[in-house]
Amino acid sequence: MKICSPGRVNLIGEHTDYSFGYVMPMAIDLYTYLEGTKNRDVVLYSENFEMGGKFKIDSFEKENNWLDYVKGIYYSLYKRGYRAGGIYGRIYGNLPIGSGLSSSASLELAVLEFLKENYTLHLKRIEMAIMARDAENNFVGMPCGIMDQMAVALGKKGYALFIDTENLNYEHIPFPKDLNVLIFDTGIHRELANSAYEERQQLISLALKKLGKCTSKNVSENELNKLNAREIKMLGYVLRENRRVLDARDALKNENIEFFGNLLLEAHWDLSNNYGVSCEELDFFVNKAVQHGALGARLTGAGFGGSAIAIFENIDNAGEIIKREYEKRFMYQARYHFVKPSDGVRLCMD
Ligand code: GLA
Repeated sequence: MKICSPGRVNLIGEHTDYSFGYVMPMAIDLYTYLEGTKNRDVVLYSENFEMGGKFKIDSFEKENNWLDYVKGIYYSLYKRGYRAGGIYGRIYGNLPIGSGLSSSASLELAVLEFLKENYTLHLKRIEMAIMARDAENNFVGMPCGIMDQMAVALGKKGYALFIDTENLNYEHIPFPKDLNVLIFDTGIHRELANSAYEERQQLISLALKKLGKCTSKNVSENELNKLNAREIKMLGYVLRENRRVLDARDALKNENIEFFGNLLLEAHWDLSNNYGVSCEELDFFVNKAVQHGALGARLTGAGFGGSAIAIFENIDNAGEIIKREYEKRFMYQARYHFVKPSDGVRLCMD
């Protein structure tokens, strides 16, 4: 059996999911594949890591490598009283790892889909997303929000996914067919990203607690004066970003692509100047993309490197030109892909 699990890009709504705000990602046509059969234990080989691993299905000790995403899924199933057997298989694909395109959520959901199909687990897609996030938060130890897992579980070909991360209501929003989405991988994988992410997640949670709120959606600008200067700056960004997600959703619905592009740009510079998660290389890309005709561009995912996106009506040779200029300026090797909105995790028929 072969499972096909997409990556994701976030179109807009960055660093809003851990305060239960709005996000609008889409699943993309770059995939993780898991091909295998039922087995007593878990025996897997990852082609990307050129590394095999095995464990017994009731062993929940962390290994501190990619296998923890697989173990985390077993942990999450076990916690909820589901029982599944093992897997004998291999993992491969064209979704870059560690580039801010959710390769971890993609792997988690590939494993969960495989177990669901092989061991007849009755799981709804939304439950699968919740369980994969649980694996990441409580087994792997990354305090992420639910955006990535929802995008990978619930993506739909041709559509972006608007999510209210407080109640997990979602809506598929048609994505213009002729709009080209360029993903630019800066080639930077910074360790700093994890600690800086955690620091922001804690700061925002504390600020919300001080205001007696459980979601950033319910905070108004004039309540911010009860907070200290850094909290005002950071939560102020989140409030503006929540607003932009709603505007961006409406812009897509109305096919107002120019406005959509402007919102992306506004979001990037707010992330860069106020939320402090950009870097020189990401800012360089955004400026170059606009110079070469993009309607909008921004970093995507946690930031500090990883990937950025740009949307174009006409692409010409923009990807290649920007890559060349970037590599002339910085020592990193960039990669780029043009992607389309894809279906979520599924059984592969080919
Ligand atoms: C990472 C996390 C997501 C989200 C983004 C920032 O991708 O996994 O939950 O918080 O960062 O928007």
